[in-house]
Amino acid sequence: MSGAELAIDVRGLVKRRGERRVLDRASLQVRRGEVAVLIGASGSGKSTLLRCLNGLECADEGELRVLGERVPCGVPADAHALVPLRRRVGMVFQQFHLFAHLSALDNVMSGPLWVRGESREAAREQALLLLERVGLAARAQARPRELSGGEQQRVAIARALAMRPELLLFDEPTSALDPKSSADVLAVMEELARDGQTMFVVTHAMEFARRAATTLHVLEQGRVVASGAPATLL
Ligand SMILES: Nc1ncnc2c1ncn2[C@@H]1O[C@H](COP(=O)(O)OP(=O)(O)O)[C@@H](O)[C@H]1O
Ligand SMILES: [Mg+2]
Repeated sequence: MSGAELAIDVRGLVKRRGERRVLDRASLQVRRGEVAVLIGASGSGKSTLLRCLNGLECADEGELRVLGERVPCGVPADAHALVPLRRRVGMVFQQFHLFAHLSALDNVMSGPLWVRGESREAAREQALLLLERVGLAARAQARPRELSGGEQQRVAIARALAMRPELLLFDEPTSALDPKSSADVLAVMEELARDGQTMFVVTHAMEFARRAATTLHVLEQGRVVASGAPATLL
């Protein structure tokens, strides 16, 4: 498989914390257009792997390429080196991480305005479409504290989409949510999957994996112990 076809290429990744190997020669590949789901017990290294993919953390050994680029990390100067990749890779966290003082609309406009330098009108128009897409057109002016967890997470997804990411990373996007909110968020994610968005999703939502994932990866004590079609693995 050529590098250009791979959204994520992880080979032999090792991350140490003291004596322990939190990632222990983890390897996996995700092609562009794929929806990959990563599962594993708590503490198996899922979030650490995601943080490495996003350059928030530096692996000790191994090869790591995202969208064909080596992920810069480590020295402070590399915060700047990360900017090009950050524009191409979106991230959705368990705890939403919205800007608390901004409305839903302004949250979704933030990337296009501040990072892409788009006009207010263009950013606003696109943000309204995205809020509609996640079922929140009517809540555009609400602040995060006025929204349910599920609504906040859907705003967070819309905010990530506003950057038109080539790859979207999710770290347990529904594990802080009640079942109804969780279902609403997963429905949005399934629609993204159908639209061909490349996604790498850490989740315990097996129904989502079964319905939307092209590939399922299983992480065990820092190692990818199985990769394959969900129907085969589940
Ligand atoms: N900042 C940290 N300092 C020390 N240990 C950590 C840190 N973050 C995570 N760990 C440890 O690394 C292991 C993997 O954590 P994590 O990647 O968060 O797992 P998961 O997301 O699969 O639950 C766990 O044993 C956790 O306690
Ligand atoms: Mg985690």
